[in-house]
Amino acid sequence: MSLPDSVRLFEMSPRDGLQNEPGTLVPTATKIALIERLADAGMTHIEAASFVSPRWVPQMGDASDVMTGIQRKEGVTYSALTPNLKGLESAIAARVEEVAVFAAASEAFSHKNINCTIAQSLERFEPVMARASEAGVRVRGYVSCVLGCPYEGDIDPERVAEVAKALWELGCYEISLGDTIGVGTPLKAKRMLDAVNRQIPMNQLAVHFHDTYGQAIANLYAALEEGISVVDASTAGLGGCPYAQGASGNVATEDVLYLLEGLGINTGIDLQAVIDTGYWITAELGRTPGSRVAQAKGRSHT
Ligand code: HMG
Ligand code: MG
Repeated sequence: MSLPDSVRLFEMSPRDGLQNEPGTLVPTATKIALIERLADAGMTHIEAASFVSPRWVPQMGDASDVMTGIQRKEGVTYSALTPNLKGLESAIAARVEEVAVFAAASEAFSHKNINCTIAQSLERFEPVMARASEAGVRVRGYVSCVLGCPYEGDIDPERVAEVAKALWELGCYEISLGDTIGVGTPLKAKRMLDAVNRQIPMNQLAVHFHDTYGQAIANLYAALEEGISVVDASTAGLGGCPYAQGASGNVATEDVLYLLEGLGINTGIDLQAVIDTGYWITAELGRTPGSRVAQAKGRSHT
């Protein structure tokens, strides 16, 4: 067994965490404060917003204000989702340095999420990649439903590998593999990673586990054993997907940090600062953190 010496954590709470928040819109100032607190805790990669249609995802309608409002910290990448050229142009205007395009390994999910087929989405990304390259903006790629789809059920790992390879060949610097509805288990995750790794080097892959069935930490450990060293996670376990009913948030950042610390794997992130941020943001939203580690340790009383 060989585990990575260090892990790069990609924080999702401002985007994946808040995009599905029911009820009233989360104030822009709260989002900005969240992002700044995460950066202060030592995060180096934060998905801060999403330049999607506000009719589809109202909670992300203030993406430009969020991106231009944050006090940017040296050494921190603040990225945003951009499903098409319109989104990318708005992101560039808001001085975003890194964006992400998102495709799915399931046709049905692709339709529900971005209103087109997988092939159409990949075509749509071509001009996005070209414009991003011209503007000096790095592009990450997501594949959704890599371990199962809410509409199609099981997904063939070869299908995941095909879509991941297409995004990689378009020029995405890293492909994040999303268990959108959190149905995966470790053996399934390993098989999927093996299939994708036959096409793309492991150091250009990331895992993006949602925790609906409580398997995300186990899946993550399996992925680390496979050589994965980039992990998406969401403080307090915030989130869900608007097009995957019942799906819960990403694996909680606090739980990931506790696991990694126990394995002697370095992230450079202050666990207690993240726990405190999780208590703060969930209080703003009227609940308590979904992280087991946050519940066990509690907030600091300084
Ligand atoms: P569409 O309706 O097919 O697009 O939506 P359209 O091009 O026909 O445009 C319709 C309207 O949307 C027009 O406005 C456009 O201007 C506007 P109208 O003329 O009717 O007033 N529009 C936009 N507005 C702002 N920003 C844009 C934009 N594009 C068009 N970028 C579209 C297609 C892709 C836009 C839509 O389906 C959409 O926004 N989908 C986003 C869905 C989404 O955000 N899902 C959640 C994120 S993905 C996820 O969570 C998974 C992930 O976490 C990984 C995992 O867990 O698996 C990443
Ligand atoms: Mg997600």
